[in-house]
Amino acid sequence: MESLTGFDMRFRRKFMFLVCFSVLFSFFAIWKLHEIHIDLKDIQCNKIVEQNRDLLETSHKELTLVERLYKENINKSLPTIYAITPTYYRYVQKAELTRLSQTLRLVSNLHWIIVEDSEVKTDLVTNLLNESHLVFTHLAAKTPPFEKLKAKDPRWKRHRGIEQRNAGLNWLRENLVLKGDKGIVYFMDDDNTYSVKLFEEMRKIKKVGIWPVGLVGGFNAEAPIVDRLTGKVTGYQSGWKPNRTFAIDMAGFGISLDLILSNPNAEFSYKMAKGCQESEFLSFFITKEDLEPLADNCTKVYVWHTRTETPKIAANIPGLEV
Ligand code: UGA
Ligand code: MN
Repeated sequence: MESLTGFDMRFRRKFMFLVCFSVLFSFFAIWKLHEIHIDLKDIQCNKIVEQNRDLLETSHKELTLVERLYKENINKSLPTIYAITPTYYRYVQKAELTRLSQTLRLVSNLHWIIVEDSEVKTDLVTNLLNESHLVFTHLAAKTPPFEKLKAKDPRWKRHRGIEQRNAGLNWLRENLVLKGDKGIVYFMDDDNTYSVKLFEEMRKIKKVGIWPVGLVGGFNAEAPIVDRLTGKVTGYQSGWKPNRTFAIDMAGFGISLDLILSNPNAEFSYKMAKGCQESEFLSFFITKEDLEPLADNCTKVYVWHTRTETPKIAANIPGLEV
């Protein structure tokens, strides 16, 4: 074999260097070109998005609707829960409704009937509902001024939610049919705290279901007493009038839609004794002995009568919806 001269060796090294450099450069060039291509694609994409914004928004809404209908279809066998919520404007309203609507997103087959204590439906509630991804009916029914609680009045002085719950009941009676539609009616105040477990319990209701409510009535909870042997409600533990026929807060019972539709005269009234709306309303439908105790024979609390402090506000920042 002929040995390589110094010149050949140098030439060979330079040649190898050139080959390596070209390979590296080619990789670099390909990578850069690819990036430029992606940028161009992005720009084109943005342009397409901009030009078709209306169409895309519509199809997004359609997709949400399809998703909702699909979910409803899988859960078809579940009875629908018709939750009636009175609500009124105050600083914390949007916060309360945001919290509540986001709880309701975790519940299948729920139809939210939200009734504003106002002459007309407000933009605040309309927008919140449109963005909520929930099945809802939006109504307005104003409390007459002479029945409205004044800022300085103690809460017990006036009934709250009468007009609104009755508007919800009317809607059910006008839009649903006895025996055709199946479901449970639940009165759901806008400021309470609800566990998703509660809604699972509610679907077991045949006529009227009852369960404890935390943080109400002067004790840590208001709770039906259940006879272990018979499974019947025999009384109530409450720090306030435990001898009421049904000593339970509005959040502590659900009624079958059949009962609501077959008793069209059952409604709330300003004539009801103070703090006894629940007891008087339930008396339209059932006796204590026929109540169906839920939440592990009324031993579990899945709903709390929470109240939000009224904030002290010195001024409003213009243009900011809170
Ligand atoms: C308790 C019960 O939990 C209520 O279900 C019941 O209506 C009330 O007592 C009563 O005895 O009237 P409480 O926390 O004292 O509830 O009442 P709020 O939470 O202030 O009001 C109950 C519902 O009525 C809420 O959903 C609230 O948004 C609504 N409301 C209240 C109005 O629609 N307009 C009002 O002026 C005040
Ligand atoms: Mn409340």
